Amino acid sequence: MKEQLEAIKKEALEAIDQSQSVKGLQELNVAYLGRKGSLTTVLRGMGQLSKEDRPVVGQLANEVRGAIEEALDEKQEILDHVELEKQLENETIDVTLPGRPVKVGGPHILTSIIEEIEDIFIGLGYEIKEGPEVETDYYNFEALNLPKGHPARDMQDTFYITNELLMRTHTSPVQARTMRALEGNRPVRMICPGKVYRRDNDDATHSHQFTQIEGLYVDKNVRMSDLKGTLNTFAKKIFGEDREIRLRPSFFPFTEPSVEMDILCKVCSGKGCSVCKKSGWIEILGAGMVHPKVLAMAGYDPEVYTGFAFGMGPDRIAMLKYGVDDIRHFYKNDVRFLKQFHNA
Ligand code: DAH
Repeated sequence: MKEQLEAIKKEALEAIDQSQSVKGLQELNVAYLGRKGSLTTVLRGMGQLSKEDRPVVGQLANEVRGAIEEALDEKQEILDHVELEKQLENETIDVTLPGRPVKVGGPHILTSIIEEIEDIFIGLGYEIKEGPEVETDYYNFEALNLPKGHPARDMQDTFYITNELLMRTHTSPVQARTMRALEGNRPVRMICPGKVYRRDNDDATHSHQFTQIEGLYVDKNVRMSDLKGTLNTFAKKIFGEDREIRLRPSFFPFTEPSVEMDILCKVCSGKGCSVCKKSGWIEILGAGMVHPKVLAMAGYDPEVYTGFAFGMGPDRIAMLKYGVDDIRHFYKNDVRFLKQFHNA
């Protein structure tokens, strides 16, 4: 029996030594120490031993069991360690790998151009104002010297909501709203950017919704030369010092006299091309001295106050500045178009 025990011990220790997995170890544990394991089986035969041999064999059996258990524990520890190492290796993150670039958006080109124009006028002491896009007939037309039935209303094809409510066709109603709010006794210096709407068929130069920036300067002794100087400063800042401008007489019901401002065509330098329709000049805004009736309707005494106003289209300015040939690009939101201006 002693030999048997020694043999089991030897065999078990070798098997444990060679075992390469935790699972294999568990199997060995069962095979030697389990209820039907070889050591247990041998011990079952102890009853047949003599009284003298029994304690001796018993002690040896305990030693063998102890040795096998110890070997199992040791090996278990080693295998656990190996497994952990393997796991750590598989799960390591290579921090030196360059990360995937995150795509960040940027301001829309129209937002950028509006902010650029706002900055120029803030620098000249103007405030930024806002007005409603759903406007009353009164502010959109009547308060601007365009009474019902006035033929000049046809210049701006209008989306009517009811007889008295409409989508504003221009930002000019904010002139009247701003003056009203100041109750006729304070100077005004404001610009108002915003969306406007017209019943136009969309094409390369027309959109049923586009943007405008209105400007208004009212005070005592405001003159046409102030308007000219302001527009000149603005044009040079936005298009560059060397871009020539000109003012042409024009007509708007809310200004008298009225002008339009052109800039020299960049494409042909004034010689005439398809972009400027052979004229050499491109119109960028309408302006004029605020009509006395408009001042009076808004509560300002035209004998005391004078002012100038202007209205421009940021869409058109962006088109000219960046050579965009179709206004619809601004509203399609195709990122391939938009991202070209993210560093503009
Ligand atoms: N509201 C005009 C338009 O949409 C533009 C304009 C012209 C505005 C002359 C003005 C102005 O303030 O003085 O066509």
